[in-house]
Amino acid sequence: MENIKDNPIIIDFEPISRRFNVTSLDKTLYEILLGMDIRIRAECRGKGTCGKCRLQIQEGNQFLNPPTKIEQRFILDGDIEDGVRLACQTKIKKTVKDQLKANKNINLKIYLPENILIDNFQILTSGIGKGVELNPAIKKYFLKIPKPSFDNQVADLERIICQLSNQYSHVKIPINIEYNLLKKIPKLLNDNNSEITLTIWNGEKIINLEQNNLSNKNYGIAFDIGTTTLVGYLLNLNNKKIYAVDSKLNPQTQYGEDVISRIAFIKENPKGLEILQSCLIKEMNKIIFNTCKNVNINPHQISEASIVGNSVMHHIFLGLNPIQIGISPYIPIIQNSIDIKARTINLNILKNGNVHILPLFAGFVGADTMGVIISSKIYEENELTLIIDIGTNGEIIIGNKDILAVGSCAAGSALEGAHIKHGMRAAAGAIDSVKIDPKNLEISYTTIRNKKPIGICGSGLIDIVAEMLRAKILTRSGSFSKEIIHHKNFIDNSNVKEYIIVNEHDTPLNRQITISLADIRQIQMAKAAFYSGIKIMIKHLFDHFDDNSLNIEKVLLAGAFGNYIDKENTKFIGMIPDINKDNILQIGNAAGIGAQYSLLDINTRKIAKNLLDKVRYIEIARDKNFQREYAEAMYFPHMNLGFFSNLKEYQNIPKR
Ligand code: FES
Repeated sequence: MENIKDNPIIIDFEPISRRFNVTSLDKTLYEILLGMDIRIRAECRGKGTCGKCRLQIQEGNQFLNPPTKIEQRFILDGDIEDGVRLACQTKIKKTVKDQLKANKNINLKIYLPENILIDNFQILTSGIGKGVELNPAIKKYFLKIPKPSFDNQVADLERIICQLSNQYSHVKIPINIEYNLLKKIPKLLNDNNSEITLTIWNGEKIINLEQNNLSNKNYGIAFDIGTTTLVGYLLNLNNKKIYAVDSKLNPQTQYGEDVISRIAFIKENPKGLEILQSCLIKEMNKIIFNTCKNVNINPHQISEASIVGNSVMHHIFLGLNPIQIGISPYIPIIQNSIDIKARTINLNILKNGNVHILPLFAGFVGADTMGVIISSKIYEENELTLIIDIGTNGEIIIGNKDILAVGSCAAGSALEGAHIKHGMRAAAGAIDSVKIDPKNLEISYTTIRNKKPIGICGSGLIDIVAEMLRAKILTRSGSFSKEIIHHKNFIDNSNVKEYIIVNEHDTPLNRQITISLADIRQIQMAKAAFYSGIKIMIKHLFDHFDDNSLNIEKVLLAGAFGNYIDKENTKFIGMIPDINKDNILQIGNAAGIGAQYSLLDINTRKIAKNLLDKVRYIEIARDKNFQREYAEAMYFPHMNLGFFSNLKEYQNIPKR
């Protein structure tokens, strides 16, 4: 057996953010994945006969064996050139040992397409909004058109419009029509007893004509385009009911983990924007197909789509180059909402259907934040309310009926498991909650879907930090407490101390799941970004701090991560202000709810337009106090303990 224990080769598997240190050159990628308990589609179980175990080598192709004859049979030449391989046929070359001797670092990056992953990710689709009226932009009208005669020589279209105003007096005339529908009119009126259904968008344009009475079949689809995940909600526009929901990983992840790396991909590739836009729309079309299939309707019966997403996702969806968003002063191409025809971007709904994209605030505060504001109706609150939307980037919204501000903080993706040695996204086997008994330091935990633990997701990481503080394993500055460093739960890994969360024999990984100070530092940076961002925004809004509570009366946690974290622990480590736990609410995928509201009530679009003028955008990182505030907030819960009411809980935790 080829053992290379002293010089590990690193493989990063994306989009699941799992890292593997190679210690043996005998295993195929399929065997490595099995060993990590990452289940992939492999119907022939590695025999090379099913061709299902396709993955993509993004970096480090040169360290792998050349494609085998089996791979050449299953994979097109062009795809092989793009790094597509079969996991069961791919191994690290034996010759890498020479490079290891020369102390060269070997790092591979491998993308696992969603269709080969068997344990799907936990993607949050539900959320809580404040409710919405039913007044959609899309309305359907059933008409019986009178036959023409010598006494009624009015042209077909004009007869239709006249009948519309006769049957539905509230509809305002004039009404326009899509040119391509004119050709359909004679056949529709002749074939079918002159009974037709009109679809009108925004009270101004006929976008569809159908035979018979189809006025009860009125559908729309709302999308939340996240950097990591996509969620689509198929809605009945006549009764506000959600008919189906589907979610997928954003396929752009294979070209870059976050928005900055996707902008870099566009910069470096002449066709980068086209590639990112088309893979996104293709995946959205799959969501449309799946949701329609669920309720047995044709995708062309969907007359409108509404879209929210961060500014970079928004631009890529529209085929607009987001490069400027990545460069100071971070200017988007368009800020207002926009309506485009579905056919212009190949979104597979009614070809004349409308796609409404909600407005965005700034380069780093996008239409998803508008979605959160619309669904939470923070602009109607009496109490000063803080909303944090925790995703790959962090958005902060503070306000009430009198005042409203938004800002963005660079929270990084540690809370999604990235840059954490044993971190992972929320998927089966991720440790999602942890308790440590302060008396004997015994650890208990739960995992998603009760699978054997294979890594730690964001909510588990917050719990670990909070529990390590309570058990005095960690100091408030984020180092391991000197009194406890010799405890048996610590191991030395190349002279770096790590704390064991799960023992080797309790995981399928055959090695411990640990947490190191480098991991703790990532969590500190994320929580400090939020806390300091909130403080800076309060200062801009009110020109002072009330340090004990920062004046905030209510906290809403939006986004997938916000939905699963322990509220008390989030407060305990100092990520959010110290307010009563009962006033901290988890509102789930509020951005997605906002997209739904925009589909169901056209007035929501007017509110969004007005909010663009009303809401203050605060550039947090440019504030002169930001660095100091950030450094102080790196402490657990904060350098200045006086900000926190439950002082007793922290008193026995060493500061350093
Ligand atoms: S597992 Fe069947 S070809 Fe690889």
